[in-house]
Formats: sequence, C-alpha cells, structure tokens
Amino acid sequence: MAQWVTIWRAAHLLGVPRGVLQQQVRRGEIELSDGLVHTETLLRLYPQAQLEEGGLLERVAQIRDEAFGRRLRERVLPSQEVLAQRLFRQTQELADVQRHLQRYHALVIELRSTLAQQIEQAKDGDGRLLALHRQLNDGLARALAMESVDMLDVMDDMLKVMSAQVTLRPSGHQFAVEGHDTLLQAGMRAGLKLNYGCGNGSCGMCKVRVTAGQVTRTMHTDYALSEAEKAQGYVLACAHTAASAELTLETLEAAGPDDIPEQQIVASVRAVRELGKDTRLLHLQTPRSHRLRFLAGQSLTLGLAGRGGGDDAQALHPIASCPCDDRNLQFFIARNADDPVARQLFDGGLKVGDAVTLWGPVGQFVLNESTHPLVFAACDTGFAPIKSLIEHALSMDQAPSMSLFWLATRPDGHFMANQCRAWSQALDPFEYTLSSDDDAASGAHQMVAAMRADLFDIECDYYIAGPQPFVQALLRGLTAGGVPAAQLHSEFTP
Ligand code: FES
Repeated sequence: MAQWVTIWRAAHLLGVPRGVLQQQVRRGEIELSDGLVHTETLLRLYPQAQLEEGGLLERVAQIRDEAFGRRLRERVLPSQEVLAQRLFRQTQELADVQRHLQRYHALVIELRSTLAQQIEQAKDGDGRLLALHRQLNDGLARALAMESVDMLDVMDDMLKVMSAQVTLRPSGHQFAVEGHDTLLQAGMRAGLKLNYGCGNGSCGMCKVRVTAGQVTRTMHTDYALSEAEKAQGYVLACAHTAASAELTLETLEAAGPDDIPEQQIVASVRAVRELGKDTRLLHLQTPRSHRLRFLAGQSLTLGLAGRGGGDDAQALHPIASCPCDDRNLQFFIARNADDPVARQLFDGGLKVGDAVTLWGPVGQFVLNESTHPLVFAACDTGFAPIKSLIEHALSMDQAPSMSLFWLATRPDGHFMANQCRAWSQALDPFEYTLSSDDDAASGAHQMVAAMRADLFDIECDYYIAGPQPFVQALLRGLTAGGVPAAQLHSEFTP
C-alpha cells in the first residue's frame, strides 16, 4: 500500500541528499501535500535500479554480507533491548491495523449478504440495489487481488526499526537515531545545534520534553529531574535513546554563535602529526565530562604552559574538526615564528599527554541554514575551518552539491589532498579543484576565473577562509561577478 512520507524520510529511503529532493520540489517534479511526498512519486522518479545503488537496500545487503559481518551490525543496529522495544511497538501497530482490517472485512461481507437478501425479496428486481451489489462485489475483488509488494513501504518499515525518526519542535528539524546513539549524539551527528553541557548526565542542560513516542534510558545519570519535570515528560537527551520508531521532542536549539556559551577547558594532547614540512596536525582531547560545545567554522584560543617557567604561549586557531565529535578537536598549525603556539609545537615542546587550555569558541564564520549549492574556498591552513564546515554540511545533508577550491602558496599547502579525493569519491555531488600560486592574491584571481566558468549562473553560498590578501581578492572578484553580499561568508586565518 503506497503511503505519504516526509522529505527527510524519503531522502533516507532513497539514499540521496535532502537538498536534491528539495530542489525537485522547487522544480515541480515532486508535489507535496502537507509537507509529505507520496511513495508512488518517489518510485516514478527513482526506479528500482537507483534504489539499489545508494539506498537502504544496499545497507541491508551489506548487513547480510559476511565480509562486513559484525562490525556493520554493531554500527548500524541499536542494542538488542532497544531493537526489541521498537519491534514490539511496531508489532502492536501492525496488530492494530490487522484487527481493524478484519472488522472492515466482516462488515463488508455482512453488507453484501444483507444486499443479496434485499434483492431476493424485491419483486421485480431493484436496479439500484443490483448496481450497488455489483459495485460492492467488484470493489471487494479489487481489494483482495494480489498486488506486488511496494518495496519502498517494506524499506520504510525496516528503516523504522533500525533507525528511529525524531522530529524537534518548534524548529521542525528531523534526524535519525541509529545504532547505539543517544538522542543527543544522533542530533549532533545530524548537524543540529542542540543545547547541552557535560554530555554525561550530570548538568541537566540537555533536557528535552517528549511529546510523542517513547524513549528508553541508556545510562545512569547524576542529574535528578524534579517530579514535576518527569510528569511533564522531560528526559535527558544525553542519557536516552528512541524506543519507538517515531518520536517528537520539544527543545530549544542554538540559532547561531551568540547562543553558544564561552567555555574554558583543560584538554590534553592526543597526537601531533606531521602533515608536511611546515604543517602539523594537533589533536586535542577534552575530558569525558567536559566537552566543547562549538559550531563548525569557529576558533579557539589555545594556551600552553611556558617552558622552563616562562610566560604561557597563547594563540587563536580555527578548529578543523566537526562539532559532532565534541571531545576530539583538530587544528592545522603552520610553522610561524610570530605564533608562540606554533613555535613551541615545531620546536618539539608539545608532547602527547601535555595539558592545553582552551578558551572559546569565538567567530561568526558558520554555516547558514540554506538549500543552495555550497562553494568553499581555502588558502593554505584556511582549509581548517573549511574542513569543519564541509563535515558539518555533510552531517546536515541539505546541500544539493558542494565544490571546494583550495589554493596552496607553499609547497605543502595541500596537506590534506587525500581527504578531498576521499570526499569526491564517496559523495556524488562533491567536486574539488587544487591550485598553486606563490602569491595569495593572484591565486585568488585565478580561482574567481575558475568559479566564473561554471558557478556564476547558479545561486550558491560561498565560504572563504585564508590569509587576508586571498580573502579580500576573492571577495572583490566574486562581488564584481555579481554574487550578492548575503551569499558571501569569509574568515581571515593565520
Ligand atoms: S548534557 Fe549534561 S546532563 Fe545531558
């Protein structure tokens, strides 16, 4: 039986970004009714072959595949307990539907025999009664006819058990809870700016109100909700997961950087890795009970204890990782004599396990909510905030396409070219262009020319990060090419 599903669920079923479906809505290829799309429309636009390429069928096949075996099962499926709860509720729903169907069927059979009796009793045969009887018989035959199963419906039912769908009010944002994720982890993986603090059940900042569906607790919490809060349906998102296939939660989300509190955290060095002769990856880890809440594209001040009792070294650096992993923070640091943190790092004065104080986050260079194609432009270590934004955009799954332009002014300027290659191989709508020029401004002019070739006739959002001459030259070129200021977002990086 065909049914109506949300765009979010349709994207999951088909394995395409939501932005692609939203574009089809705008082009009139998909007609919505109350925000829902009919599965018949989806099947018309995405025939079976395409479903098997990137959608749930592929995931199901992978789960069955012995080669992936246990690892995939652990990652994709929730715990046995949660799975049992979701299956139980799904079975309840199905039993309910079955009971109703049986009652309707009995009613129709009764009506048919009553009609047959009345026709018999009518002396000269009543034409209207005969027509009604025929209509009833034909309708019943059609309803009982064997039809092939709608594959999308089967997949939708499976998807409901494997990954619950959560809708947030009042924003209307939606996300899936997969595997062993809590509500908070799943929301963050989907790129949402949920309210939270400790992430381990002790601060109470992640309180949400369950207004429909069921949840189950996944860990012990120190924070005690009041009886009144419990009665109103409040739970801690960091300590609960979805126990029903669909869930509606009431919660406040951050609208932008101004809603993210300033924090001070003492993290430790997890790793230092050479990315090039003059570029290092600094991987910091926060304590389990003190995670950093930030938005993709923001920066932190890093503070290192001075060597030999000297002054502390401090410098502002953009975060290169995704907010969905709020404990593991990455930074790309270039050799720079004017940067005390870089000096200490390149002199070997920073070792695994050393303490680093973090202050922040700061910065307004964050992703806007939009369904435009996204264009990212970076110069050298300006790739750090750009990488964070790309990872966030991938979590949000809203952009119909993404293009990355990366200029190197130093021999090791493309220190993560492999990452770009991996994105472009794994993601259909991702393209990247690497360029080199000793001079940042002249490299920016060539970049504008490359963008002009295929992007200026599309409405795109541009995110630009790098040294000041690069950013300014690119902004001038894009503005001269007619790109409105509202679609230009930029950040100067060291
Ligand atoms: S984030 Fe602190 S209790 Fe959930």
